[in-house]
Amino acid sequence: MTDIARIGIVTVSDRASRGEYEDRGGPAIREYLSEVLSSPFEVVARVVPDERPGLDAALTELCDAEGCCLVITTGGTGPAVRDVTPEATEAVCAKMMPGFGELMRKVSLEKVPTAILSRQTAGIRGAALIVNLPGQPKAIRECLDAVFPAIPYCVELIGGAYITTDEERLVAFRPKSARRPPA
Ligand code: MTE
Repeated sequence: MTDIARIGIVTVSDRASRGEYEDRGGPAIREYLSEVLSSPFEVVARVVPDERPGLDAALTELCDAEGCCLVITTGGTGPAVRDVTPEATEAVCAKMMPGFGELMRKVSLEKVPTAILSRQTAGIRGAALIVNLPGQPKAIRECLDAVFPAIPYCVELIGGAYITTDEERLVAFRPKSARRPPA
């Protein structure tokens, strides 16, 4: 049986949610996934304001009702009063995965000193991994290139879909014992 991975993309932005600003982050994540994944997937996208409890509800819905095994957020990770994405992520997750934020900040700091301002994190809710990215569209590729190699095996370990990547573009790490032959 082929697993079709359902992947949630949440753009967290007051202006994009009001239609005052074109959502560039969500489409950039979708494009990244199309470029890197070799296994089938479908995207469930949402654009929400920088507000709780609405953001908590969107994350919960994507994990529990929509059956996403991976939810990637963009925006709302900074220090401003309305930046609440890490808090919403922590509130809905049973387990935090701090290594994702640590690695993304490390690689981002090599590009921009303001990377220190992102509180981006990741966590597990049921069989879903939630990963926060900053709102800057160029941050999406910088951050995902760093952490994506860990995502397929992490998703597998929590009971999500079996995700594979195009190895010419990005090699995901997975112990030999966990590798499946190509379909
Ligand atoms: N990380 C990368 N890789 N590239 C960036 O341009 N911008 C930073 C930081 N992390 C940035 C980045 C800036 S300016 C801010 S304020 C924080 O992410 C938080 O952004 P957010 O509130 O849009 O999530």
